[in-house]
Amino acid sequence: MKNFNGNISRRKFTKGLMSGSTAILLSPSLSLANKPDDLAPWSVAFNGLTQDLGELDMSVSGKIPESCFGTLYRNGPALFERGGQRYSHWFDPDGMIQSFNLNENGISHFGRFVRTEKYKREEQAGRFLFDGAGSTIAGSFPSRNNEDINVANTNVQPFQGELLALWEGGSAHRLDPESLHTSGVKTWRDDLKGVPFSAHPRIDDTGDMWNIGSLPMPGNASLVLYHIGQNGNLKKAQVQRLDFGGYQHDFLLTPKYLIALNSSAVAHHGDHFVDMFQWQAERPSQLLIFDKADFSLLKTIEVPPAFVFHFGNAWEDGGKVIFTASQYTDAQFMQHGMARMAQQKPGPYHDDSRLMRYSIDLQSATVEIDKLAESLEFPGFDRRFPFTQQNVLGVSENKNRIDSIQSAISEVNPETGMQQSYDYGPDVIVEEPQFISDGSQTIGNGYILHSFLNFRSERTGISILRSGAVADGPIVTAEMDRCLPLGFHGCFLATS
Ligand SMILES: [Fe+2]
Repeated sequence: MKNFNGNISRRKFTKGLMSGSTAILLSPSLSLANKPDDLAPWSVAFNGLTQDLGELDMSVSGKIPESCFGTLYRNGPALFERGGQRYSHWFDPDGMIQSFNLNENGISHFGRFVRTEKYKREEQAGRFLFDGAGSTIAGSFPSRNNEDINVANTNVQPFQGELLALWEGGSAHRLDPESLHTSGVKTWRDDLKGVPFSAHPRIDDTGDMWNIGSLPMPGNASLVLYHIGQNGNLKKAQVQRLDFGGYQHDFLLTPKYLIALNSSAVAHHGDHFVDMFQWQAERPSQLLIFDKADFSLLKTIEVPPAFVFHFGNAWEDGGKVIFTASQYTDAQFMQHGMARMAQQKPGPYHDDSRLMRYSIDLQSATVEIDKLAESLEFPGFDRRFPFTQQNVLGVSENKNRIDSIQSAISEVNPETGMQQSYDYGPDVIVEEPQFISDGSQTIGNGYILHSFLNFRSERTGISILRSGAVADGPIVTAEMDRCLPLGFHGCFLATS
């Protein structure tokens, strides 16, 4: 989740954009190696790791369904400290891929840092060399472009027999799915080298990949749109100038349209990327409706100020486009909550991220917005059917909690808002769920697989629940004597 332009030189940035690199000038500042006294009870979730993790068997209770044989990959910020320096925002630690292999003999885990150029340079130097998107580092050097600070820590996605470790401010990194060895950056076209590529590409029903890249520079805000064929060749890329540079992290796809939300967290100038955004409660956000066929901007529709990291699915119904979104009241979580988490301070970190349903009438350019659930983040669904109305999975808070910690897995009906949940109790933080088909062609029939951290016992685990019966709790639970840092996103690759 991040992208970039700290104290950006506008002229240099514009020049960089034209040449496919985004230049950043960063100023040296204080280090933050000291930890606070008021540690959150779950502070272990942000201790971080310093080394790759070798293979370890997990203790499993329950019988793993055959449909769940395969590998759960997850990505997340892991290298919080190096050489006595520590990052102060959750956006910034270098990414590590976690691999959980599920088979007839049980579940095993190993983890490996993504070997970005940044990681390799800093490993050699024995210290952090650059500021992050939300952290300043003592004695940092100016970065030449976004790739200098690419931490590849946000998502991991299979594509063309490889894994892509994704960030949002620069290139995806190519990994070997078996060894997690990093083979380099993925460049879609020479002139797109290092250009932002979001961590949330979407695959359509033909296998093609679509994505956005956000360039929110003040006065020169734009959005890059990508269409990549299933063979890996770039079909089309286009830069769309925007009225203003609202923070954008994810987008939506329907059969005909690509939909982006230009949020009311608007880029101005700041010491680093996160500082740069100002929440503008009086400025409407914009829904941008693009034609997938040629990337023309068909409509710009103003909606009440919104901040969204993650969207669920989207579909068309007659003259309407309907989608779900996990929406915050404002940008507090990105700007302050995520910093408090990384600094291991207690919550609350944000208001609930509510699951909203937007229904857009394209003819009249009007939008109906309904609240479906009080709390749901990391929305997921049966991605075999990307353009259909179906239940949304996610993590949610117990309404009795006031600390913003998500301890429950939930499933929400996008029409009625009916929600069922399973809460793991006060010692557990749950992570993004993945839907796994049971092999039938029925939408949403199968299992829900997710990782979790028990921060009291300092053990990471994974659970499997039946979709449609989430409230019954897990049918399989596995734990290990390892405490992984909380991650962001992942994917499941079934054993073929
Ligand atoms: Fe994300």
